[in-house]
Amino acid sequence: MNNIILPSQLKYLQSFQSENDPLIIKLEEFAKNNNVPILSKDSAKFLEILISMAAPKRVLELGTAIAYSSIRIARNLKKKSILHTIEKSSDNIKLAKENILKAGLNDKIVIMEGNAFDIMPGLKKKYDFIFLDADKNDYKQLFDYCLILLKKNGIIFVDNLLWKGFTASQKVPAEYKTSTKYIREFNQLFTSQKTLNSTIIPIGDGIGLGVKS
Ligand SMILES: C[S@@+](CC[C@H](N)C(=O)[O-])C[C@H]1O[C@@H](n2cnc3c(N)ncnc32)[C@H](O)[C@@H]1O
Repeated sequence: MNNIILPSQLKYLQSFQSENDPLIIKLEEFAKNNNVPILSKDSAKFLEILISMAAPKRVLELGTAIAYSSIRIARNLKKKSILHTIEKSSDNIKLAKENILKAGLNDKIVIMEGNAFDIMPGLKKKYDFIFLDADKNDYKQLFDYCLILLKKNGIIFVDNLLWKGFTASQKVPAEYKTSTKYIREFNQLFTSQKTLNSTIIPIGDGIGLGVKS
């Protein structure tokens, strides 16, 4: 069986992904025009469906940026559930706050302002779902904190594990060599955890998905 998706097949599948929410369209345009890296549309849809299925009470996101994924997560949370999202860039925090207000999700999303390395050790209560989407060079270390903070049967979702295709390529541009090395190491670590039933799925830029035992 051939598991490789051809560009024509990808295009066909993407033709079903019409977005008609004005705020989401605006955020996608803003991200594109301002080079803000956000989840791809297909990864974001996959994340939304997982959130709906798993119905997590407490979700932690590492890397808010402009709150694109935060809004898509929070819109699919059940009534009493909450999203905590960590962001270190003050410029992004300002934009994220404006966007969360526009989305009417102030009661669902709490931005934790600062570096995840400083914030995570102080978090006492565990999470049902963690989305790791911070600096790629930091994934390995942040993952250790994620494992501590993830509840039993909790889900971890990690973006960019194909890293624009570079993790699976021999030809890596000089500016991506270090980050590619880090993500390759991370992928090894992520898929070999005894306490995590994990895999990497070829959606968007490569999604790591794991359930803690
Ligand atoms: C890829 S973007 C997040 C995109 C967002 N999750 C989305 O899909 O809409 C990564 C963000 O993580 C933030 N970040 C990276 N490393 C961080 C860290 N150690 N602590 C807090 N924020 C971090 C960056 O400032 C950036 O805004």
